[in-house]
Amino acid sequence: MKRRMFLKTSFLSTLAGILIPSPSFGNRDCDLTSSDILGPYWSENHPHRTILANSDEPGTRIFISGKVKENDCETPISNVLVDVWHANDQGCYTVFQDCESGNSNEDSYNLRGLMTTDENGNYSFESVWPGYYAGRPRHFHYKVTTPSGLELVTQCYFEIDPYIDEQWEENHLGLVIPLEETEFGLVGIFDIIINEETPTVLVDQESKKSIRESVLHPAFPNPFNNKVQIKFTLMDSENIGISIYDISGKWVCTLLSQHMSSGTHILGWNGSDMNGSLVSSGTYIVIMKNKDYVKTQKIKLIK
Ligand SMILES: [Fe+2]
Repeated sequence: MKRRMFLKTSFLSTLAGILIPSPSFGNRDCDLTSSDILGPYWSENHPHRTILANSDEPGTRIFISGKVKENDCETPISNVLVDVWHANDQGCYTVFQDCESGNSNEDSYNLRGLMTTDENGNYSFESVWPGYYAGRPRHFHYKVTTPSGLELVTQCYFEIDPYIDEQWEENHLGLVIPLEETEFGLVGIFDIIINEETPTVLVDQESKKSIRESVLHPAFPNPFNNKVQIKFTLMDSENIGISIYDISGKWVCTLLSQHMSSGTHILGWNGSDMNGSLVSSGTYIVIMKNKDYVKTQKIKLIK
């Protein structure tokens, strides 16, 4: 069977189920899936698709499937948005960074995709096994949104990764999965257990619709040498955070973290880190976020 047919005919979860029996209960109890950091590389509007890497993308093909379930570990949740993004084989995020390999078809959403769970809570996707960067284990990023508006940001790691030790597993309960080698590539199952009844994090659909997203304007000048202006417009007064990260995902500094009035504001960044030391030339990422959204923008420092 060809790889494309393999996914299109939805045989993936069936095969994985045979290869890794009792995936939901074999490796963990009925615990809620832990949250994990969003990181700086999430972007909006990922396309709906189940094949995230084109056929020429370097790396080991990997097939992940799973179910999104309620906190009884049995009741499936359908129509859940499962948003996945990850680094390429070399640990490089091709949409944000200048990578030395991969993305031969210049897909602006390379290694990113959005899936919707079916009536049995199932999702599945095919991609390449993410590489290492910044000393982090291989991982897929997930942002899961249920029809009731509950959101879980998390990551999926792999038991066979030598970067994963007992302590990592303890600190990332339910996020480290086994992988099976098959003729198609690596196969793994990552089930996600969400507590749909948690009232404190439910987002009312009507109020969610009424959120007026703020705007992060293009930085100026970009590339910059001495100072870059970061301009943003808030539709309402809100708590806002604006930080700079380097291209490996390492935090450089926080420019703003406070309640701000509505309207347009301008910040300046002179290229210094949290200790006041000037950083080296290169690409950096501005991340603006509040509780409802994340906006990102690449800026380039040239000395
Ligand atoms: Fe990452």
